Amino acid sequence: MSNIAIKSADDIEGMRRAGQLAAEVLEMIAPKVQPGISTGELDRICHDYIVDQQNAIPAPLNYKGFPKSICTSVNDVICHGIPSDTKLLKQGDIINIDVTVIKDGWHGDTSIMVPVGKVAPHADRLMRVTQECLYKALAIVKPGTRLGDIGEIIQEHAEGCYYSVVREYCGHGIGKVFHEEPQVLHYGRAGTGLVLEPGMTFTIEPMINAGKRHTKLNTRDGWTVTTRDGRLSAQWEHTIAVTDTGIEVLTARSDEVFPFEQSR
Ligand code: MF3
Ligand code: CO
Ligand code: CO
Repeated sequence: MSNIAIKSADDIEGMRRAGQLAAEVLEMIAPKVQPGISTGELDRICHDYIVDQQNAIPAPLNYKGFPKSICTSVNDVICHGIPSDTKLLKQGDIINIDVTVIKDGWHGDTSIMVPVGKVAPHADRLMRVTQECLYKALAIVKPGTRLGDIGEIIQEHAEGCYYSVVREYCGHGIGKVFHEEPQVLHYGRAGTGLVLEPGMTFTIEPMINAGKRHTKLNTRDGWTVTTRDGRLSAQWEHTIAVTDTGIEVLTARSDEVFPFEQSR
């Protein structure tokens, strides 16, 4: 037993709609990531698409004072990068685009890495291994799985590739509230922590650093989190629902191939 909200079938239908919209924003924006475009322009395009085409709300805008509609985290930025008209993407950069939309009160939260033109092999490898961390975690989630199982499988894979796991930021329960219980750590020990049950909805969003795990918060803007050592960081995120036998990925993209079965 736990205090974590269990969503009804109707609730999950609402989450499915929000999740699909968030996924569609990523599908729309990814091809526009090219050398020379600014992160501020990416933000405007997403904002207008969410508001005008989807009749939805970009959750980050004014969330705890966040000034933009998406997060754009480039190279050594781990998360919560603020889009800016003066931040121009250049060939070889890697960017995380993190989109959260609210539809009919329900949240869908998802992010991807996008290479800007051709990138170095070590950058490609970091992005790929980080996505593998997410997929390995998603693959083990079903009723009875414990949060520590998720943390351990991510940590094992990342550290096995000589990367490190960011500890200060984590996945989270999600629903009518953007960030609710439980916290979903991306490190830990199998067999510990909350036991998952059907109807729980949460994100898994590993942030993996090429170098050391330590983070630095930009105290000027209050948001931008970078690696302390200045090396690259990557992140991928999905919102999921625990089903009777496994999971449904609520933010799956149309072209996405998962190395596990989904259930509804
Ligand atoms: N989308 C982020 C997450 O995955 C949260 C962004 S909060 C913001 O939880 F204020 F920075 F937008
Ligand atoms: Co999230
Ligand atoms: Co997010």
